[in-house]
Amino acid sequence: MARVLSGVQPSGDPHVGNYLGAWMRWAREQEAEHLYCVVDLHAMTVRFDPALLRERTLDTAAWLLACGLDPDVCTLFVQSHVREHTEAAWVLACVASMGELGRMTHFKEKSQANDFTSAALFTYPVLQAADILLYHAEEVPVGDDQRQHVELTRDVAQRFNHRFGDTFTLPRATVPKVGARIMDLQNTDAKMSKSLESAGTIRLEEEESATRRKIMRSITDSGSEVRAAADKPGVTNLLELFAAVTGAEVADLEARYAGTGYGDFKRDLAEAVNGALRPVRERHAELRRDPAELEAILAKGADKARAVATSTMATIRERVGLLPSGA
Ligand code: TRP
Repeated sequence: MARVLSGVQPSGDPHVGNYLGAWMRWAREQEAEHLYCVVDLHAMTVRFDPALLRERTLDTAAWLLACGLDPDVCTLFVQSHVREHTEAAWVLACVASMGELGRMTHFKEKSQANDFTSAALFTYPVLQAADILLYHAEEVPVGDDQRQHVELTRDVAQRFNHRFGDTFTLPRATVPKVGARIMDLQNTDAKMSKSLESAGTIRLEEEESATRRKIMRSITDSGSEVRAAADKPGVTNLLELFAAVTGAEVADLEARYAGTGYGDFKRDLAEAVNGALRPVRERHAELRRDPAELEAILAKGADKARAVATSTMATIRERVGLLPSGA
């Protein structure tokens, strides 16, 4: 049983790709040793609005619960509720080098895309390393774009262990195999995006009619065959979406829709997607109607996380020679 930790940024609108590509699996495989963290501090590294940050932090937690994370099984918490994350990040920033942080493609891309680059955007991976190392996580389920940050975490942990004595477990990224990687329904070159408003993104929070419309208008390829192939990226993506929401095999779906054309296929797909999302959407709405319950769940999650984080932090402080405060 591996210790698992992952983080979700409370930015943008969650979509079906988040659910199928990650959250559904996290829920299915959850265990006592798994921690999931809404990383509100990371969301502050680019321009943000305080009211929106608060709202999205709560909303992201509600979606994770609605997707099936059970606070009585795993640990779900908000990053800023456990102060040790920022404390550990400082120590780790003293062990990470400017050179290795400067090589992060996440930093290079974000700093180029925006007029203002915060210092925290640069040290972002150090805070992520703290998230992971405080809990001795062995596995970090992330998207491909986060692999580099987990590698950096490993390097920093190794350097710390070498200089100050064995303290941290070296984590590794677990990136899901292709298949659950759902692409934009209007542009199969891009993943569905949380931040871009696109007719090709099926948002978790939208009317079933909107989901149906997006699927019916999704791009397909020339011809009329429902078949997964390299020259049919649109249909292939829809087949993979269909397979992911129903658990069916792509080959079986191809057989079922042989000779029917795209229309019937899309209609059934829309029904399958809405059917799979219905209980998730309902549970989310329920949770949002009761903010007190949601806050209580998060407070309990933070307590569970803190119990581990304070103990690791005490070791870190001792190893690096910080004077005990006495009191
Ligand atoms: N940087 C990650 C992302 O943008 C989010 C994240 C923060 C994270 N801390 C983490 C992921 C710790 C895994 C583990 O997706």
